[in-house]
Amino acid sequence: MTDAELMKLAQKAREMSYSPYSHFRVGAALLTKSGKVYAGCNIENAAFSPTNCAERTAVFKAVSEGEREFEAIAIVGGKEGEVAEFTAPCGVCRQVLSEFCPPDFKILLGNENKFEAFTLGMLLPFSFTEKNLS
Ligand code: THU
Repeated sequence: MTDAELMKLAQKAREMSYSPYSHFRVGAALLTKSGKVYAGCNIENAAFSPTNCAERTAVFKAVSEGEREFEAIAIVGGKEGEVAEFTAPCGVCRQVLSEFCPPDFKILLGNENKFEAFTLGMLLPFSFTEKNLS
């Protein structure tokens, strides 16, 4: 699976976005160490706070299927229509990723034609993890 292929799957997942309130559509594609991909989209709610981001949809789908080890996530987000900007994961999604993914976990942002790679460590330095609790 190449980075470009993973971005393409995130772009495809974005088509399923349920975002009637913000009209901000996000898709994510999470690659496991074993090579499987779990896709997710943002799912909004009339009460607003139950809204789930695309990244967490993908992580929760994967973990609920028994996956625990991840290689990379691709994220494509933007207002309805073509995606021109980089949509970075929100703080809550960074924290959820940090539960399962190491600091060198790859995060791809952009669109399927133009994207950049970051690491979780770059986006969430000095994080709170299970080590703090042991
Ligand atoms: N959203 C995501 O799906 N991922 C992010 O990391 C940022 C925000 C969604 C949540 C909401 O449905 C919409 O984008 C606007 O905040």
